[in-house]
Amino acid sequence: MPDANPRMRPVICEVAPRDGFQSIADPLPTAEKIAIIRALADAGCPRIEFGSFVSPKAIPQMADIAEIAAAVKDVPARLSALVPNVRGAENALAAGVEEVVYVFSVSETHNRNNVRQSVAQSLEGLEKVKAALPASVLLRVDLGTSFDCPFDGTVPRTAVLDAVASVAAIAPEAEIGLCDTTGRANPFEVAARFSAAMAIGAASGNGWAFHGHDTYGQGVANALAAWSVGVRVFDTAAAGLGGCPFAPGATGNTATEDLVFAFNEGGLDTGIDLAALLAVADRIAALPGGVTGSHLRIVPRDRVA
Ligand code: COA
Ligand code: ZN
Repeated sequence: MPDANPRMRPVICEVAPRDGFQSIADPLPTAEKIAIIRALADAGCPRIEFGSFVSPKAIPQMADIAEIAAAVKDVPARLSALVPNVRGAENALAAGVEEVVYVFSVSETHNRNNVRQSVAQSLEGLEKVKAALPASVLLRVDLGTSFDCPFDGTVPRTAVLDAVASVAAIAPEAEIGLCDTTGRANPFEVAARFSAAMAIGAASGNGWAFHGHDTYGQGVANALAAWSVGVRVFDTAAAGLGGCPFAPGATGNTATEDLVFAFNEGGLDTGIDLAALLAVADRIAALPGGVTGSHLRIVPRDRVA
């Protein structure tokens, strides 16, 4: 049955298979990654960023991405994969990926550390990626360090809005993600930056997503601040796994179960079965080498409902 009011429904994009798995030093067995992606979809995660088409020298944990793409095609979720350049987009297309997430950082220093380019070069890269994608393939653009840079500290609002304006001009159909790469944002700044960004992107028709980390314990509050100004898509990771290997000091993404719990308490249905999600979160938390967060996972299960 179609949603009575889809604008009132928060959409979780589960990123543990990308942001999370990349943070585990010893790459996980491919079969384990595939099983977890399947379990996340079976728990009702409507969107899953299942990995990245990046240089295996930069992120060896994603060397098996094409094999994973082939194995998860039939899962009942909207699947996307992160790409840092046109080469990644071409590889993603060859693997049959139907949504790519092009990433660059607003902060020059983090962008150089992460994708070895200036912001201007990354914007040129976006034009190339867009040109390489058939109209049927969805595009999301993630703006890393939209609040704070692990090297330079607070990122000026003007730099974020300049980046949003450039992306909106190049890709007016793209969903734009503002990413709190370090987890240092606060709810007030999240609301303010999204409000200003959405005023720019509204003219172009861009959709919006918030990608949060929970380093300072603000993850759920930040997501709800984004929700309050109209953001409807939220990147989170089951068990709070994650962290960019090129962002020293940052911990994992906001835990999916924590944000789902908050939405449930507010009567907002994410379509995710919390008990099933917690079972996957437990499995993720047991992975050797994984650093996890999450509050809900340590609450006695009979007190979660
Ligand atoms: N997928 C696979 N291989 C790629 C690639 C891609 N998308 N892009 C480049 N490569 C390969 C090149 O072919 C080259 O291989 P070779 O040494 O065997 O010839 C090697 O990677 C280096 O290529 P180059 O173009 O010089 O890239 P670089 O060394 O300047 O690195 C990136 C740039 C973007 C490829 C790399 O920094 C990267 O993959 N970063 C991803 C970071 C990330 O995922 N961070 C976390 C998410 S925010
Ligand atoms: Zn992240």
